[in-house]
Amino acid sequence: MKNSILINNKLGKFNKIIKVSGDKSISIRWVLFSSLANGISKARNLLLSEDVFAAIDAIKKLGIKSKVFKNSCKIYGKGINGYKYKKNITIDAKNSGTLGRLILGLLINTSYPIKLIGDRSLSKRDFKRIAGPLSKFGAKLKLNKNKNLPLIIKGSENLKPFTYMEKRGSAQCKSSVILGGLRTNGTTIIKAKKSRNHTELLCKYLKLPITIKKTNKIDEIKIQKVKEIKPLNYNIPSDISSCAFFMVLTALSNNSKLTIKDVNINPSRTGIITILKKMGVNIIFKNKKFYKGEILADINIVSPKSLRSINCPSKLNSAAIDEFLVIFLVAAKAKGISYFRGLEELNQKESPRLKWGKYILNEMGIKTVTTKNSIKIYGNPDLNLNKKITIKNFLKDHRVFMTSVIAALSFGGQWNIHDKDSIKTSFPNFLKIINNIKN
Ligand code: S3P
Repeated sequence: MKNSILINNKLGKFNKIIKVSGDKSISIRWVLFSSLANGISKARNLLLSEDVFAAIDAIKKLGIKSKVFKNSCKIYGKGINGYKYKKNITIDAKNSGTLGRLILGLLINTSYPIKLIGDRSLSKRDFKRIAGPLSKFGAKLKLNKNKNLPLIIKGSENLKPFTYMEKRGSAQCKSSVILGGLRTNGTTIIKAKKSRNHTELLCKYLKLPITIKKTNKIDEIKIQKVKEIKPLNYNIPSDISSCAFFMVLTALSNNSKLTIKDVNINPSRTGIITILKKMGVNIIFKNKKFYKGEILADINIVSPKSLRSINCPSKLNSAAIDEFLVIFLVAAKAKGISYFRGLEELNQKESPRLKWGKYILNEMGIKTVTTKNSIKIYGNPDLNLNKKITIKNFLKDHRVFMTSVIAALSFGGQWNIHDKDSIKTSFPNFLKIINNIKN
């Protein structure tokens, strides 16, 4: 198959310095905030992936121009009320839940109905979770089968604030309501279970009228109507979710070392680091610096002599939510039984990832016991594969593809992994960096 990759060899030891692409969450948010700014915003190291291009295309449909040159981008914002709503606009969020959900928050004042569509994977995902809250502002949303895309949103001229309890730990839902709050008179209140906080940090950096009160379990966010957003020049840091694959590759190899430069180590994203450290991997941050509310560092990882199993505290789930598939590979090699629980959100991603995690591990001969929100993984420190494994029909989930590549390079066997193009959504350089580490 043209679009598949065959891997027949384990990776030898390595000692490398790499840099991965820009953060996807921040890249999409930068596009959306810049589209509302008064004037020209510039980004460097913007992630040039399909999800981010979908965001650029989406704002273009709303009359906002942009220019992409190498990995820099300019967006010509026309102010908070600069979107040109007209008849028959269709926005295609493609594979991106972040774009699909966040942009709806900005469309709650559209004077004409706007249709939101997505690819096969996004069309299976839950949009009721965001249609419910946004309709409380007064927007009208009509969903396919009451739950999915395509959906049609029609805004209101008379938006009303409300209090939203975000109980899933979903940054997409939280952010969508924050963006809706920017358009709404009065104070919108969000009581959110902890999740990545890039939207709040951008609002703060832009000096928008937001306050955040943190308690142990929830953040209480208050946001008021915004009059003006200043242009936002941003040097996008590297994405820890993309680094995760190489961190795990190092954790599973022998006598290897890796440095990953300029990574965003925002604590709401570093669950994987806490988990890998608990499992015995040596990771240190170097050259820490602050950047527009975020924290950046170089990450040094050394492959461990042995790996311990983990009883993973569910309070780490949100900060590692995109990394669990690849973390499960570490559990496969750890001594003992690892246990991950409270992971119902994993089956809500680009593919049902708890199921895919189980499938990949079982193909590797690793015993698992799963429920609808948990998995027990019976690790085997001597795991060494010598069989054929085919991974296909995974709804082109980029993280299933990349996790399978890491498994193949770490455990051996003959792997045929389909849908190589899936990496274009989040990490088009992934295989190039793998080749750089190999040679
Ligand atoms: C994201 C939030 C997470 C994450 C996704 C990106 C974001 O989704 O899985 O890849 O940029 O806000 P949920 O908010 O749905 O958990």
